[in-house]
Amino acid sequence: MDGAAVRLPSRRERSAPLPGAAHARHGPTQYTGDFTRDTGNRAPSASTHNNRMDVEWLTSTDGADTIAIATRLLDDDPDRAGIALARVVEDPHRRALALTQAQLRGIAVAKFGPDAAALYYTRDGLEQASRRVVADRRARLFVENGARVVADLCCGIGADAFALARVGLDVEAVDADAGTAALAAANASAIGLADRLRVHHGDALHFDLSAVDSVFCDPARRKDGRRVFDPRDYSPPLDAVWSAAGPRLTAVKVAPGIAHDAIPDGAAAEWVSVDGDVVEAALWRGRAGQANRTAVVFRGGEAIELTGTGRRDADVGGLGEYVYEPDGAVIRARLVAELGDLIGARLAHPTIAYLYRDAPATTPLAVGWRIREVLPFHVKKLRGVLRERGIGRLTIKKRGADVSPDKLRRELRLSGADEATLIVTRDGDRHVALLCDAAPV
Ligand SMILES: C[S@@+](CC[C@H](N)C(=O)[O-])C[C@H]1O[C@@H](n2cnc3c(N)ncnc32)[C@H](O)[C@@H]1O
Repeated sequence: MDGAAVRLPSRRERSAPLPGAAHARHGPTQYTGDFTRDTGNRAPSASTHNNRMDVEWLTSTDGADTIAIATRLLDDDPDRAGIALARVVEDPHRRALALTQAQLRGIAVAKFGPDAAALYYTRDGLEQASRRVVADRRARLFVENGARVVADLCCGIGADAFALARVGLDVEAVDADAGTAALAAANASAIGLADRLRVHHGDALHFDLSAVDSVFCDPARRKDGRRVFDPRDYSPPLDAVWSAAGPRLTAVKVAPGIAHDAIPDGAAAEWVSVDGDVVEAALWRGRAGQANRTAVVFRGGEAIELTGTGRRDADVGGLGEYVYEPDGAVIRARLVAELGDLIGARLAHPTIAYLYRDAPATTPLAVGWRIREVLPFHVKKLRGVLRERGIGRLTIKKRGADVSPDKLRRELRLSGADEATLIVTRDGDRHVALLCDAAPV
């Protein structure tokens, strides 16, 4: 027990299995040691939260039992769980470790689904982990494009590496942070993937790629707790990973806000959204038939794709009876013109991404509203009209107008029982307020 007193759960406690307890005992992890000269300085400091000793303890029987107790105490009373755990576990560091795991396992369900209770996390690692649907699709693409042995060069706690292993690939996973790499190895064992997944601690750029046919990398995009936007500041930097991967089938995950001119020559880029949120972009090399730009829109677990060059201008006409806001992935991929063609819609201003039609359209790639009235954007006049219409609740959206929705809502002094959506935008050079139905079509 290494000095820390852990009260083992009573028989009654044991008879009610706790999340994590059933999975926490697992076989030896596959973990290879340092292979680089210098690994410490590139990893984000917050992810060193768990060192390898911590991971050894967390994955031991004592650790598993303590996490199980912490989980139950958190379920019983989150505010008193720390105090209650102090009665049974003397070591404050281990209490903190166990409580953190118990909390993070609860949060992780959204990303890891049923595996969540078996896995070990750092807060950073969980936050940065890819979503399962996105990682699974990417893994299938590696297989479809002939990959057999893939290096995951920044594996974190392992979300992408697991997806790659689950589709049958051999995975060499690398992380520069010792504690994170140890967690990834423990996690691979905990969910039965250790036979296909080896974890290495070291710098991605020093990893020997001679035995792999493909490369995935999800570089760290935070430095000292802050997001970095320039891909040259990623760890490792985008251009360095891109050239280290050589001619292999390669995917590098990047921030969705990446500037199009920062995309390396020859890379095909895709932007991915899940239920309306743009979650990532990925740059690919060597994928058969991939368009220059792709928007991948997940709705209810299903992926819908729109492809194009990212260089076309959409048709511009007037407003219509229906307005459509393209999914963020479509906008980021610069595929508004392609979406306009697909649904037969036009812009009302060449640089504002609202599309207009005269009849409703059904598409998972955009959200649309029926326009009730086109009003001039004038606060006093709007206030009067909204009063007359009895609109007391308003969702305010804007594009191409310098408006603060909260401030505008206050200025409109709404009252009434009806509800609507107000879209402030431009029709050519004229600012307009489109009074729309509350619910999308
Ligand atoms: C965004 S996270 C990866 C998340 C992972 N794809 C997942 O889904 O769980 C980035 C990881 O890169 C690691 N890292 C940063 N610089 C590195 C480097 N030079 N070599 C290897 N790993 C590095 C960090 O420690 C961090 O765990």
